[in-house]
Amino acid sequence: MNSLSSDVSLIVDTDTGSDDAVALLMAARLPGVSVRAVTTVYGNIDLGQATRNALVTLDMAGRSDIPLYQGIEHPLLRRQADAEFVHGSDGMSNVKLPEPTRSAGLEHAVDMLRRIAVEERGKHTLVTLGPLTNIAAAVVLQPDFLECFKRVVVMGGAFDGVGNVGRAGEFNIWSDPEAAKIVLDAPGLLTFVGWDISRCYAVITSEEQAELRALGPIGQFAVDINKAVNDYAIAQTGLAGYDLPDPIAMAVAINPAVALETRAVNVDIGMDDAGQGGTFIDHYGHLVDEPNCEYVAVADEALFKQMLRDACES
Ligand code: RIB
Ligand code: CA
Repeated sequence: MNSLSSDVSLIVDTDTGSDDAVALLMAARLPGVSVRAVTTVYGNIDLGQATRNALVTLDMAGRSDIPLYQGIEHPLLRRQADAEFVHGSDGMSNVKLPEPTRSAGLEHAVDMLRRIAVEERGKHTLVTLGPLTNIAAAVVLQPDFLECFKRVVVMGGAFDGVGNVGRAGEFNIWSDPEAAKIVLDAPGLLTFVGWDISRCYAVITSEEQAELRALGPIGQFAVDINKAVNDYAIAQTGLAGYDLPDPIAMAVAINPAVALETRAVNVDIGMDDAGQGGTFIDHYGHLVDEPNCEYVAVADEALFKQMLRDACES
């Protein structure tokens, strides 16, 4: 089965924890996909560890040629809070990982993002897998930043109102709601893939984990680094295995057909304690007529899982 619709060039912004790493494997290994650059941001784990995890993952994928730049290490205004309790203290379930073969590039991620956006306008799809701090900084410096991309796909939000941090907040938006607001208010079309999509269409059961591991070392790596999330998901959210928010967002970025249904809506971001990071939809246009984004409402689970297997095949 060919899991791709056409060639795509990506820029990936990631707070590399264990599911980001699987998304990076998909970007780096699926045929027809090129990765122009990877940028890192604090989030699931601190910035240094996120950078290290991304570098090791690209090494695993045999893609140490992909340029990687380090970005911002804390939210714009809020205190940083990581997700070690979900992903393990290294963000990768504390499996023994090798040392990365290189360091991040010297240019700051935000400078690099702006440079490529301008010099290579219209060529790339931007995929964000972590808090939106790097992207907000780029937007502040260059208001048309988002319009420089073919598409912008954001893993973030909880469009069923069920947060994984607090009441309504999904981690990436909750971590830096001011950055999310800056990005949402900027011109350009954003496609959100929320945590709800991950829980409905991207849960990897123990049988599927065994199938992935049987594909070889890449499949084993992809499963083993998610052991901590597996334990957390089963105990805390009642899922049948670990879910993969960033990989299903990556699948939507690579192949728009993974999104079976999208809805154009106006969303605002919760800023107060009770609603921090919530992605609140103006369902009936009571407040604003104009949509400011679209979100994925239904995804193709079979196509996503085929892409995942294709990426893990050694
Ligand atoms: O909310 C889901 C979290 O897991 C996010 O940080 C997402 O990017 C993934 O890593
Ligand atoms: Ca992430």
